[in-house]
Amino acid sequence: MSTKAIITGTGHFVPPKVVTNFDLEKMVNTSDEWIRQRSGIEERHYVESGIGTSDLAYEAAVRAIEDAKIDKSEIDFIIAATLSPDHYFPGIGVIVQAKLGLPGIGALDVRNQCTGFVYALSVADQYIKTQMYKKILVVAAEVQSTNLDYSDDGRDLAVLFGDGGGAVVLEANAKNEDKGILSTHLFSDGRFVSELWMEKPSPKDNPTFSDEMIESKSHFPKMKGRNVFINAVDKMPEAVRTGLEYSNLTIEDVDHLIPHQANDRISLMVAKILKIPVEKVIRNINRMGNTTAASIPIALDEALKSGKIKEGDIVVLTAFGSGYTWGSAVIRF
Ligand code: ACO
Repeated sequence: MSTKAIITGTGHFVPPKVVTNFDLEKMVNTSDEWIRQRSGIEERHYVESGIGTSDLAYEAAVRAIEDAKIDKSEIDFIIAATLSPDHYFPGIGVIVQAKLGLPGIGALDVRNQCTGFVYALSVADQYIKTQMYKKILVVAAEVQSTNLDYSDDGRDLAVLFGDGGGAVVLEANAKNEDKGILSTHLFSDGRFVSELWMEKPSPKDNPTFSDEMIESKSHFPKMKGRNVFINAVDKMPEAVRTGLEYSNLTIEDVDHLIPHQANDRISLMVAKILKIPVEKVIRNINRMGNTTAASIPIALDEALKSGKIKEGDIVVLTAFGSGYTWGSAVIRF
């Protein structure tokens, strides 16, 4: 039996400031009713000015390391997923590494948007299985609130997103039991780049940064909502089925499904298509909004800490997002 990777610690952090739909009504031409009906979101967290994605990632990482009951010096690799890095470059991996005080170890940034955590987990899983690293910190965080178009042009997206971070510590299962990550499957289709993207700034433009970029609002994220919905509810079930089949499991074996918290209507549709009872679906988007790469590790941490996920449970993660990218991970806890 090959080495399996197990999640030995989880943590999350969201900034203290809560922004309700009623607060948003004062900033955006929208209503609590519209947002709740279309997305299930009631409130989300926003950072105060000056707080970056790496700050949220760091806080989540510290909590995950503490939960794993290891000394941070035992971490031998960091994988960080975000679409909202503190800087155009470098990524947040090295910044989290510096904040943790772990100079020298490798830090890899994953740029797979809403699917970022599933991609990062899969990469970490391969490193553990091949015994290249023993204890990997996988962290995902986002600050979305500072670059949303709160005018009518961008209100479809602006009401969905929130800020936050989540992290896990992944280790080799020393006991070689059947516990741990059973499979990960990753997919993408780059033909749909412009359906969900932040087009600018782009080095294709000379100069990269211009007044025109600001005037045309192309530095704000844009989404073709209907297409995103249609593809998300098609691709996430497909990825879940592929993962379960590979792991010799059936839908009935699934104890908990943690979909990327994109939109509650998407999560409920994915469950319906898969015929997974709604009680088995972990949903926290009502309190968190869509935190992109961070949404799965935040939901996972909450479900573990509240005792919802128990030892031996089969937990399936699935995500879909910009790229398009999508994937699944099947885990036995
Ligand atoms: N508040 C009020 N009205 C709004 C808002 C808002 N925040 N945003 C858009 N509208 C208006 C539009 O201007 C439009 O008005 P019009 O009819 O006068 O032109 C109307 O609402 C469109 O509403 P719907 O009829 O519900 O439109 P549609 O059926 O196309 O649904 C929606 C739009 C809700 C975005 C849908 O496509 C959807 O749920 N898509 C999923 C997208 C999503 O959740 N993505 C998550 C982020 S990406 C990710 O994580 C993968």
